[in-house]
Amino acid sequence: MTRQSKNSAQTPASQALAQAQTPASQMPAQVQTQLDALAREIDASAVCPDLKAQATQLVMGDGNPAADIVLIGEAPGKNEDLQGKPFVGAAGKFLNEMLAAAGMDRSDVYITNIVKYRPPNNRDPHPDEKAAFLPYLLRQLDIIQPKVIVTLGRHSMEHFLPGATIGEVHGQPHTVTVDGRSFLLIPLFHPAAALYNGGLRQVLIDDFIAVPGHIGKTRAK
Ligand code: URA
Repeated sequence: MTRQSKNSAQTPASQALAQAQTPASQMPAQVQTQLDALAREIDASAVCPDLKAQATQLVMGDGNPAADIVLIGEAPGKNEDLQGKPFVGAAGKFLNEMLAAAGMDRSDVYITNIVKYRPPNNRDPHPDEKAAFLPYLLRQLDIIQPKVIVTLGRHSMEHFLPGATIGEVHGQPHTVTVDGRSFLLIPLFHPAAALYNGGLRQVLIDDFIAVPGHIGKTRAK
């Protein structure tokens, strides 16, 4: 059985994605079942109880649980907290536009955050909060087994590329190994940063559009 994209449009990007599909031991519904179990485990554990107490709900992820590309943001904001899905506010609208510009949509990717409860007043997640959620993010990746990880902003980048500066490495593919498995990691600016900084907007769009091409090059190696 192969991992199937729900997007049948024959753009170059979707062709590259379709070609990148590999035999998977599990179908999306089975992967989702495992992700649901992990979400219940997080909610039942004492992971950031202060955040949990103030949040409406855990925001686990959205999109295709069997996708080859996982996008990782920072933490849910107000809209995400209310709807229980990542990137559904203004930054999410911009993210959807960039996905479309790259020939994809949300069903071609899986979207999550490093911290899965909303920090109060949308403050940056604290280092101890990122550390508390990191093992669960790694287990989430182990369940999904993507080929490509796109980090959105420095908070999700820092574990995979310690010491890197987003302004220097944005858009550049890196091969990283986590728990014995290799991924192509592409660090991008956070969409919210680009919303408030006009100069970054085109940089992020250009980096985003290049993502499917990096996947194609990986396959050719
Ligand atoms: N910003 C993020 O990093 N994640 C979201 O889910 C929404 C906004």
